[in-house]
Amino acid sequence: MLDACPDIEAYYLVDPWRNLDDWNKPLNYSDLEAALEETRSRLAKHKNRCIYLRGTTTEVADQLPQLDFAYIDGDHTLRGITLDLLRIWPKIREGGAVGGDDFSPTIWQHKRKYEPTMVFPFAVHFAEGVGRPITALPNKQFLLENSGSFHFSDPSGQYADTEIGTQLRSPLARKIFG
Ligand SMILES: C[S@@+](CC[C@H](N)C(=O)[O-])C[C@H]1O[C@@H](n2cnc3c(N)ncnc32)[C@H](O)[C@@H]1O
Repeated sequence: MLDACPDIEAYYLVDPWRNLDDWNKPLNYSDLEAALEETRSRLAKHKNRCIYLRGTTTEVADQLPQLDFAYIDGDHTLRGITLDLLRIWPKIREGGAVGGDDFSPTIWQHKRKYEPTMVFPFAVHFAEGVGRPITALPNKQFLLENSGSFHFSDPSGQYADTEIGTQLRSPLARKIFG
């Protein structure tokens, strides 16, 4: 992104880069110090535009200025996406946007070992709450724009509905939980 967009003035990286006691997702069982080192090395040529905020979103969001764009790819549990959207949305200027990863049509993408992935449908409900449009993009991405009015656009037709009941009754849920 920084290679392609020389006009980006400041690029804030929010991540605790530490293993958390209360985050049951695969990445929490990896070496996050090493991930920070890799990040620093890959961004070294852009270091003058990078601001590292090492902490959870809740811990460091107050240090963020108004933003044109934020990309959320952190804790995708119900708690995680709730905290991320509530903390980040007030930082997005009118006309800006929030994008995010793991907008998975199924909440069961990590089977029964990990917490469900709740970016979808929570982000859709959040969009309705703030009255702004949200679009499902390819590769499990979403875009929530801070202009216009609420509408959930699903051009690929992958997202059946936003009911948790649909997820609980899905063939995948039956396969995982019996
Ligand atoms: C799926 S990884 C994605 C990392 C990075 N976006 C990338 O693509 O390389 C999820 C990241 O979320 C971070 N994370 C976990 N809980 C978080 C929280 N509460 N606030 C901010 N980041 C968090 C983890 O440390 C981890 O680096």
